[in-house]
Order: sequence, then C-alpha cells, then structure tokens
Amino acid sequence: MRFMHFTVLTLFPEMFISLQESILKRAQNAGLLSVQLVNFRDYALSKHKNVDDVPYGGGVGMVLKPEPIYAAVRALPEPVGVRKVILLTPQGRVFRQSLAEEWSKCDEIVLLCGHYEGFDERIRELADEEVSLGDFVLTGGEPAAMVIIDAVTRLIPGVLGESTSPLEDSHSDGLLEYPQYTRPMEFEGKRVPEILISGHHAQINSWRRKEALRRTFLRRPDLIQDLKLVSSDYLSLEELAEENLEIAAWRETWQHLRPILKRWRSSRRNMDG
Ligand SMILES: C[S@@+](CC[C@H](N)C(=O)[O-])C[C@H]1O[C@@H](n2cnc3c(N)ncnc32)[C@H](O)[C@@H]1O
Repeated sequence: MRFMHFTVLTLFPEMFISLQESILKRAQNAGLLSVQLVNFRDYALSKHKNVDDVPYGGGVGMVLKPEPIYAAVRALPEPVGVRKVILLTPQGRVFRQSLAEEWSKCDEIVLLCGHYEGFDERIRELADEEVSLGDFVLTGGEPAAMVIIDAVTRLIPGVLGESTSPLEDSHSDGLLEYPQYTRPMEFEGKRVPEILISGHHAQINSWRRKEALRRTFLRRPDLIQDLKLVSSDYLSLEELAEENLEIAAWRETWQHLRPILKRWRSSRRNMDG
C-alpha cells in the first residue's frame, strides 16, 4: 500500500481545515495520507516571534525572514524515503497534471507557503523546486498548497476507490475529458447522445475519444502541440476538420498519422490474408 506524507510550513495552519473533508479526510483515515502543519512562527528567534521585516533597499510591504523558515526545515525529521521541498511562488514552474503524477510517486512533499510581499531570496536555496499555481498572485501560498495536496493525493492508488480511475480525467492523457451524462435520458428536451445507450463499448470509446479531441482542439489549442495522438485518431480528426473550420486549421498537426495508419492497415491485411 502506498502512503504519502505532506508537511506544510505556513503561518496560517487553521486555513487547512478543508483537508478534513470528503476524499482527503477518508484518505487520512485509511492511512494513505498524512498532513503535518508546521507554523514557522514557532521557530522565530525574537521575543515577539517576528517572521517578517521591511525590504532592504526600501519599498512597500513586508518580506519573510530567512531564520524561522531555515530553522523549521532543519527541524524536520529525517526523510523516510524520497522527500521533495517545494517553494510556492508565482515565479515558479506552473503546476500541471504531469507534475501531480510525478509527485504522487514521492514519499514526502514539503510545501513552503510564502505570505505578505514574499520571502527573502535566500529561502529559495531550501527548495528542490519552485512551483506556481498559475499566472496570478495569491495573498499567500496556502490555497496553492491545498490545491497541490488535493491533486496529488487523488492519484495515490486506493484514494479514489476501485470504481474511479484518475487516468480518465482531463489532462491525464493531455486531452480534456469527453462530455459526461447521467439520468434522466431526456432533460428539458435535451437528450443523451444515442451512442451512449447503445451498449457497444468499442463504439462508445471511439465516440468519447473523438469528443475529447474536439473539446481540446476547440477549447485549449495551447495543448495541441503536446498531444500524444495515436494513428486511430487520424480518421476522427479528419471528420472533425470536415465539421469545424477552426479544427481544420490544425490539419498539419495530425498529417504524420496518415502513413502510420496506412502501414498498420496493410500489416493487418497481410496477417488476415
Ligand atoms: C503576495 S504573494 C508575493 C508575490 C511576490 N511579491 C512576487 O511578485 O513574486 C505572497 C505569497 O503567496 C504565494 N503565492 C502567490 N501567488 C502564487 C501562485 N500563483 N502560485 C503559488 N504561490 C503563490 C507565494 O508563496 C508568495 O510568496
């Protein structure tokens, strides 16, 4: 059984109350996940437990001092396995599903949450990586830490239960997820696509793959260059291009699949013949 430990260095441990709900709560109760919250104010040296100070060179706002954060990191117990120390900053590499997958294989992740105007530059040296949640600025690293804990935890085997596969979610194979429907079959005149009630699993899978391609090409063209297309996508993409001019504009990006599909078909013919 895989087990993962998160340590969060924060000035506001109370904010992490949401980790005591739903799937993350279950994962902790099941012994798949543990989260330790460390208030680095406890490691401040001064009488008033100051953790921030004015910036050298002048300017507005307060900057986190290095001493308490260094002391808190140095006080962590010896790592039991692979430990990664992550600094949360809008200047870091943007957090993506691929990173969540990579980190779900670690034994421990330490998340350093900044606050106020940011942190003293020397704190960066403590981190193995600097990560941002996106191109916007939060008041503190806490919401980012919670998002990361959530995204990584649901990839730990057993956390989502037997019946749900995180591999079918948006971004896990570079595509947005296909449209999903549940009962009723008809709602305010809008019917569920017939194919989904046909019981024909191969056709349902190919419909879903085509719709996932459609969604991704129309909504997130920035993802197209990194898509892992397979030869069977060629025909779906050609159909989509006939249906939609916006998608047709991307035709170049899947033309390399044509000879692969042709070769595959002729080898199938040779095997059958
Ligand atoms: C107000 S921000 C400081 C921003 C800093 N002055 C800058 O321009 O890079 C305070 C803290 O919130 C966290 N934070 C803000 N935006 C973030 C983002 N997009 N991703 C991750 N953490 C973020 C960081 O820990 C940061 O130190």
